[in-house]
Amino acid sequence: MTPRSAPSAVICGVGSYLPDKVLTNADLERIVDTTDEWIVSHTGIRERRIAADDQATSDLALPAGQRALQDAGIGPEDLNLVIVTTVTPDHFFPATACIVQDKIGARNAGAFDLVSGCTGFVYGLSVASQFIENGQMDYALVISAEKLSCIADWTDRSTCVLFGDGAGAAVVGAGEPDLGILAFVLESYGEHGDLLRIPAGGSRMRINEEILARHDDCLRMEGPELFKLAVRGVPEVSEKVIAKAGLTNSDIDWVVMHQANIRIIEAAAKRMDIPEERLVVNVDKYGNTSAASMAIALDEVYRQGKLRRGDNVLLVGFGAGFTLGGAVVRWAK
Ligand code: ACO
Repeated sequence: MTPRSAPSAVICGVGSYLPDKVLTNADLERIVDTTDEWIVSHTGIRERRIAADDQATSDLALPAGQRALQDAGIGPEDLNLVIVTTVTPDHFFPATACIVQDKIGARNAGAFDLVSGCTGFVYGLSVASQFIENGQMDYALVISAEKLSCIADWTDRSTCVLFGDGAGAAVVGAGEPDLGILAFVLESYGEHGDLLRIPAGGSRMRINEEILARHDDCLRMEGPELFKLAVRGVPEVSEKVIAKAGLTNSDIDWVVMHQANIRIIEAAAKRMDIPEERLVVNVDKYGNTSAASMAIALDEVYRQGKLRRGDNVLLVGFGAGFTLGGAVVRWAK
């Protein structure tokens, strides 16, 4: 790999937050016509976390961000930027990132939200790293947070069993060359946007009684189509980003894939010839937390003491848009 002269952007702290309430598959059997056996065999999910009624997305993002700051050993006033990636913001505006910037005390930081569905963490890291590498900023906080329980259709068994709430965060700062965020690939296939969306509530379709009766203010998904796109797209984007980082699949120590479905994770890993022991999996405990999923999984594997300095981590995901995103990170902590 060509040594880089510009400062490299490294992840210098991570954190996550999961709400306390656990919703098990047995609980869901009492809400919709489903079974634990179906959910486990089709998705690998056993339980998920659900935020309290009075917890908005910013309330999940805040503790995740605070934990990442603590892990990085910096204070909120050291931050120059706060990015929140989410499909479930507190409001249309102000941005959830501005709410977090205020509550966390990042008084020297700009803030904005970024919407790229479940690839939000990779997209957020890619944006943050530009400001670090070009020397315009010292530290950026990327928080990926979701309260998907508030957009789930709790009468639709084909979707409501899949999702959970949570948040994960990373502090991005300058580090030693050849460590940190080595490469990105960001892709978008807008022609597949209808496969995963909330039909109403935006400027296209205002909410009225009829919309509410049809639950068109809730998440709608064509699961099998997304499944096929993901199983094909994840290996393709992984191959591109690994090559861009100057590495091969065998150099990858950990794969942190978007946690949507264990069958997608395993099928994509098989196509990439990545052995099971290098996969980070927590979909069984938290379900699909959209943008937050890779950030939570990265924090978990780090706090389990498994990541070593110099390990190559592949972050790769797919999501609403349809977006794909991959990043190779050489662990710098
Ligand atoms: N319990 C019991 N039966 C169910 C349930 C349920 N919760 N949900 C669906 N079924 C039934 C269906 O009605 C169908 O019955 P039928 O054959 O009598 O019509 C049968 O199970 C099979 O349904 P499929 O939708 O074909 O099931 P599939 O094996 O494709 O699994 C799933 C569905 C889990 C949604 C899968 O397609 C998937 O994971 N897709 C990808 C979804 C995804 O990743 N979404 C997120 C992407 S972006 C983001 O993360 C926000």
